[in-house]
Amino acid sequence: MDRFKQDTLHFILENAIMAPSADNQHRIRFKLDEDIINIRYTEAELPPQGGYRRVLALLSLGAVSENITIAASRFGIGTKTVLLPDPTQPNLIMQIRLQADQTEIDPLWRQIPLRHTNRRVYFRGPKMTDAERNELDAAAHTSAACQLVWLDKPAQRRQALRLMRQAETARFYNRILHTELFSAIRFDAGWRSACSEGLPPGALGVEPPLRAFFAMLRHWPVMRLANLFGAHYMMGWRACDLPCRLAPHLGLLAVKNLDNLAVFEAGRAFQRLWLGVTSQNMVLQPMPASAIFAMVGAQAEGIPADLQHNLAEGWKASLGGAIPLMLFRIGRAQPLAIVAGRRSVEDYLDEG
Ligand SMILES: Cc1cc2nc3c(=O)[nH]c(=O)nc-3n(C[C@H](O)[C@H](O)[C@H](O)COP(=O)(O)O)c2cc1C
Repeated sequence: MDRFKQDTLHFILENAIMAPSADNQHRIRFKLDEDIINIRYTEAELPPQGGYRRVLALLSLGAVSENITIAASRFGIGTKTVLLPDPTQPNLIMQIRLQADQTEIDPLWRQIPLRHTNRRVYFRGPKMTDAERNELDAAAHTSAACQLVWLDKPAQRRQALRLMRQAETARFYNRILHTELFSAIRFDAGWRSACSEGLPPGALGVEPPLRAFFAMLRHWPVMRLANLFGAHYMMGWRACDLPCRLAPHLGLLAVKNLDNLAVFEAGRAFQRLWLGVTSQNMVLQPMPASAIFAMVGAQAEGIPADLQHNLAEGWKASLGGAIPLMLFRIGRAQPLAIVAGRRSVEDYLDEG
């Protein structure tokens, strides 16, 4: 790696881990070998094929790789990325070859540290201009595997919201999903601090009067009791239905198939789109539950069969053959005072 300065490599890897991940936990290790960055998964292999956990992992890995490509471009360095390069090493997720003096600077590099998930309930307008929308469409179409659908017409939005509400409500009444949701939240950080991994409560956009109640709901017996009075419906409405109704734009990224490469490419495209949104001074919240819980393999991961079936049928009716992967709302809002932090690059680095 002598060809590339330490500072340059540090900058590239620092930008890599600024990529989003569903629970703000990058399960990866970097190892530098000459001009190659090897990225290994910290577990023996990716979650099972066909399930939603693999999709979440691949979307995030796609975002990591896109950040590397964009950050490297700042130094004119090109990248050649190979996903799962060695079938005998299933935890070797990708190999990225760096190529000096090979590319133009991608101006999106400036947006990488500015991009954050915004969960404020109210995203205001004005709506995007046609030029802004075209820019986002172009970002998503960097991958031929992806299709970007805007759900801004009232009928489309109503249809999508019905499915999104169902899935987000399930996160509060299904015990497995409840555990998954609340175990990612770092209540130990308090409401006023960030943390370097997991979700700091202050980044969730929960209004101060509701915080104590929300924190209590992390205990399953409390959640179950509250659900007798319809708390899961209220949470699904507050967490998804209301913010999406208020948002100027609702979008969906879909793919033609669920091959590793197609989902990984969608992760790359989604990251470009999100950085594009950031450069337009707008904010975004990902809300993929209704798409990923519709996957057939999701049943084996704890999604109730009737929910999986309803979601799959619902999306089929509105999208035809396309497979939904990621839903998101976009608009304008003040940044939150607390955002999810990251561990330092050194924590992710294996010595060569
Ligand atoms: C694949 C994926 C799924 C996500 N799902 C959700 C979600 O369901 N709800 C949500 O509020 N944020 C979701 N996020 C946002 C992450 O929680 C967020 O990116 C992470 O906590 C890091 O924070 P940051 O985006 O501010 O850097 C998702 C992000 C990714 C990449």
